[in-house]
Amino acid sequence: MIGIDILEIERIKILADDENKLKKIFTENEINYFNNFKNKYEHICGFFCAKEAVKKALDCPNNLSFLDIEILHSNSKKPYVKINKKYEIKKQIKISISHSKTFATAVCLII
Ligand SMILES: CC(C)(COP(=O)(O)OP(=O)(O)OC[C@H]1O[C@@H](n2cnc3c(N)ncnc32)[C@H](O)[C@@H]1OP(=O)(O)O)[C@@H](O)C(=O)NCCC(=O)NCCS
Repeated sequence: MIGIDILEIERIKILADDENKLKKIFTENEINYFNNFKNKYEHICGFFCAKEAVKKALDCPNNLSFLDIEILHSNSKKPYVKINKKYEIKKQIKISISHSKTFATAVCLII
């Protein structure tokens, strides 16, 4: 199973600048990660795409919410996904994120 998403970074700014909205989509760990960057919007947009790509790849089981999908990084900065344990997903979920000045994109593969 596969999922993909792409989004204009400009479109994420409204959400990114509203703390309440941000907290409905991103976990504390994720928000702390964004705050390490001068241009946090491209990272926020990439994470948003990653969550959308994961939803598509998983076929949105039982209304899987944005907060049920957490994007984290390995020591080499490679992104990986942690899904809320209540979904008991046994398969491996792989993601890849990329961003330019104007767009962010992400792909998710379930194997
Ligand atoms: C990792 C690398 C390929 C990213 O490419 P880039 O063109 O600079 O940036 P992109 O916009 O395409 O991608 C950025 C995203 O790459 C992902 N990424 C970072 N390190 C990664 C790694 N080691 N492996 C896979 N993905 C990685 C992250 O998700 C990052 O976005 P995020 O910080 O918002 O989560 C580049 O920084 C690089 O070559 N780093 C040094 C060598 C390295 O670690 N290579 C690993 C792959 S060969």
